[in-house]
Amino acid sequence: MSLQERIEELQTRVQQMQASSAEEVEALRIKYLSKKGEVSGLFDEFRALSKEQKAQFGQAMNRLRQTAEERMAQLRQTVEQTVAKAEVREDLTRTPDPIALGTRHPLSLVREQIIDIFSRIGFTVADGPEIEDDRHVFGLLNFAPEHPARDMQDTFFVEKEEGEQRPTDVLLRTHTSSVQTRVMLEAAEWLRNGQQDSIRVLCPGRVYRNEAISARAHCFFHQVEGLYIARKVSYADLRQTLLYFAKEMFGDKTQIRLRPSYFPFTEPSAEMDISCHICGGKGCGFCKQTGWVEILGCGMVDPNVLEACGIDSKEFSGYAFGLGIERITNLKYRVKDLRLFSENDIRFLNQFVSC
Ligand code: DAH
Repeated sequence: MSLQERIEELQTRVQQMQASSAEEVEALRIKYLSKKGEVSGLFDEFRALSKEQKAQFGQAMNRLRQTAEERMAQLRQTVEQTVAKAEVREDLTRTPDPIALGTRHPLSLVREQIIDIFSRIGFTVADGPEIEDDRHVFGLLNFAPEHPARDMQDTFFVEKEEGEQRPTDVLLRTHTSSVQTRVMLEAAEWLRNGQQDSIRVLCPGRVYRNEAISARAHCFFHQVEGLYIARKVSYADLRQTLLYFAKEMFGDKTQIRLRPSYFPFTEPSAEMDISCHICGGKGCGFCKQTGWVEILGCGMVDPNVLEACGIDSKEFSGYAFGLGIERITNLKYRVKDLRLFSENDIRFLNQFVSC
């Protein structure tokens, strides 16, 4: 083998050196870099060469020594780290690492902030089932019998098994307004006999709709329903409550506007926009240059709904509103893709520490 070939062959072997203990690293050092080692041996030969040959092989020889030394240092470090880790694992008297705390889900953070804001003005939280029936989700809420929301396109119906006795209209609730009906039915008698003078509840929860999953739509999402029933509740009460909420949630400068709309269970009904919190209402890409972004639906509880739930609509009136938690989270954190909320990607979730 020529000197050139021997240098190259040694270079390859040195690059591929492997060791799993300090002893093995030392053995490699002796084999290659000690006075009698292979690399040093080659240098002895090199020193005996003529000036011209030295010039020819000098660079390759230096590269060989450098590679050997670097690889050796690398192996030494890796072995030391592995040993240190093993020692740490074995030291049972060592102070433990602090527990790594997880982060709250953004939807939980926003839900709790919404609850906190409304609880400061007397709202309490009410709960209802996610598997519901037609009566609580639609019937009592003044949906006409042929209303398209009942359509298979929008609602997940729970199929009846053969021989089963229960009614066929069991479904996954499509909105948290169903909890309104349960609360009203339960409180009706107390309102009638004076044991209770008002209802003031917030109903947060998951809802389901038969939608294809995309960045903007999902087959499940989260809503918070609000309901206030008492004597002489007016549209001004609704407006003021929602203005208070918008300012607490999005900042003191936030303004609201109510646009007429339609929901079967409220009359009059409205949709509420807030002044765009990104541009302050001047118009930007986020609010599509309008200065406003829509955040919820609301209205005065339709007398038909009150009566259906056993509440005297001549004596009592009320307002209701429903907002999407994903929508508010999107506005607060600019999370535009709904799928991120349910994919459990730790890199996404770890970004949310508090509101
Ligand atoms: N339930 C409606 C929905 O899911 C939201 C809503 C609108 C709730 C108006 C209300 C209301 O209480 O008054 O789209």
